[in-house]
Amino acid sequence: MEKTLVLLKPDAVERRLVGRIIAIYEEKGLNITALKMLKPTREIVEAHYQEHKEKPFFQSLVDYLTRGKVCALIIEGENAVKTVRKINGATDPAEAEAGTIRGQFALTKGENLVHASDSVDSAEREIAIWFPEITD
Ligand code: CMP
Repeated sequence: MEKTLVLLKPDAVERRLVGRIIAIYEEKGLNITALKMLKPTREIVEAHYQEHKEKPFFQSLVDYLTRGKVCALIIEGENAVKTVRKINGATDPAEAEAGTIRGQFALTKGENLVHASDSVDSAEREIAIWFPEITD
């Protein structure tokens, strides 16, 4: 079954939206197969976002992800990568459809609550970063 890596970012934890957001994925029929809460190191976040390292917002993105606890999830199901990204909505909450997580709960690109892998290959790479203990 297809896997994807989801992060509920520090604003989701601070705003006590973790349970509500997880319920949306579960109600869609997706399975949460791994879950952890952690305050990530800068190294983990820099590795995760390596494709953005030349972007002007990179340092603020790393500051944001490391400022508090993150809830990392592996979500599995048919077309999990595409389905979760659709549920999350566009990166910029101002562009996100109203029924999506970002459309409903987020206001700015700088604090957009959730991350999800953009492909099966990215999911494999990101799962290895956040769940190195999982080897299957
Ligand atoms: P995410 O889907 O996790 O992938 C990359 C992240 O970079 C994105 O969500 C946002 O949190 C962040 N991001 C993208 N564009 C900008 C921007 N213009 N300003 C600040 N943060 C951004």
